[in-house]
Amino acid sequence: MKDKKIEISYKSLTPEELPADDLELVARAKAMTYRSYAPYSRFHVGAAIRMADGSIVDGSNQENAAYPSGICAERNACWQASSLHPGMAMKKIAIAARNVGNMPEGEEADAPFQGSPISPCGACRQALLEYEHLHGDIEVILFGADNIYVFPSISSLLPFSFTEF
Ligand code: THU
Repeated sequence: MKDKKIEISYKSLTPEELPADDLELVARAKAMTYRSYAPYSRFHVGAAIRMADGSIVDGSNQENAAYPSGICAERNACWQASSLHPGMAMKKIAIAARNVGNMPEGEEADAPFQGSPISPCGACRQALLEYEHLHGDIEVILFGADNIYVFPSISSLLPFSFTEF
């Protein structure tokens, strides 16, 4: 028997330490939290993807009264990216979130961004991984008001993934 270990490296940065083009991507993810439709969880998530041609495709979480029919911001963004630009590499994804649950009705827009970054769910990692395998690493930028985390790839967030059968 052998004990084995997996290590993940990521960066923790302040907004001032992010390059301008990444700040732009984060700004788009933050803006998308204001376009979320999340009346059930009241958790508003935005995602923005930098495409290989430099353009940005974004998305927000969209919920539904039939709860499982809703979709996360990350999958909304990556499916839209692949639909608009079939075959084009996705270079980076930025993610931001605001919990409007504690805000009075009508004041949701005043809810602050999460202090600590939120991390994509397993299903979104799996969906993004497919595009990563096709077109190369997708850097992951997780925005938090206190810290920003940058991961080099989706696979670093999803080791031992299921990719082929
Ligand atoms: N959600 C996302 O959009 N992305 C994540 O990374 C985590 C969760 C959404 C799904 C649901 O609409 C709400 O946040 C609460 O789980």
